[in-house]
Amino acid sequence: MKKDIERVLVDEAVIQKRLDSMAKQIEEEFPAGPIVVIILLKGALVFAADLLRRIPRELSIECLNVASYHGGLESSGKVDFLDRHFPEVKGKHILLLDDILDTGRTLVAVAERLTEEGAAAVHTGVLLAKDKKRAEEVSADYVGFEINDEFVVGYGLDYKGKYRNLPYVGVLKLSAAN
Ligand code: IMP
Ligand code: MG
Repeated sequence: MKKDIERVLVDEAVIQKRLDSMAKQIEEEFPAGPIVVIILLKGALVFAADLLRRIPRELSIECLNVASYHGGLESSGKVDFLDRHFPEVKGKHILLLDDILDTGRTLVAVAERLTEEGAAAVHTGVLLAKDKKRAEEVSADYVGFEINDEFVVGYGLDYKGKYRNLPYVGVLKLSAAN
């Protein structure tokens, strides 16, 4: 796997340290009461697992499968909900977690759906946000790192299903993307 990485963008120790401060911020800013965390699979799994263990408060976890990328390097522009059941969110405060904010379509589509389903409030958190003009006017409430507009893998992020288990975020070599 390592041979396919052009360079490490955010190393393991830096990620872990940033998660401490993100968790603290979430803990301080979230209104009192239980949180329903919604993890967008599969990309946000690793990030969420490390982040949530730093939040010492009652919360429940739900996962959603949405597809926007369909395995390529470019967003398809369409967001599909792949689950047969949607979690019960009526009246709940939601923390919606994704791996990366790119075009913004995924977060917008899921946040809209959560609101339609009656969520009391939807707060969003991402490990990474690409510094670019987005298709949708959206920003996340909690952002781990702002990065340049390059294709990255690791720490949950994949290219064609690979590299999610790298402990850092790295830029994929162009030669590996085919
Ligand atoms: P958006 O809907 O365009 O914001 O895209 C969000 C989804 O696209 C993320 O959840 C990722 O799965 C995927 N994605 C966007 N950029 C990257 C990247 O650089 N590497 C890996 N996946 C990415
Ligand atoms: Mg993905």
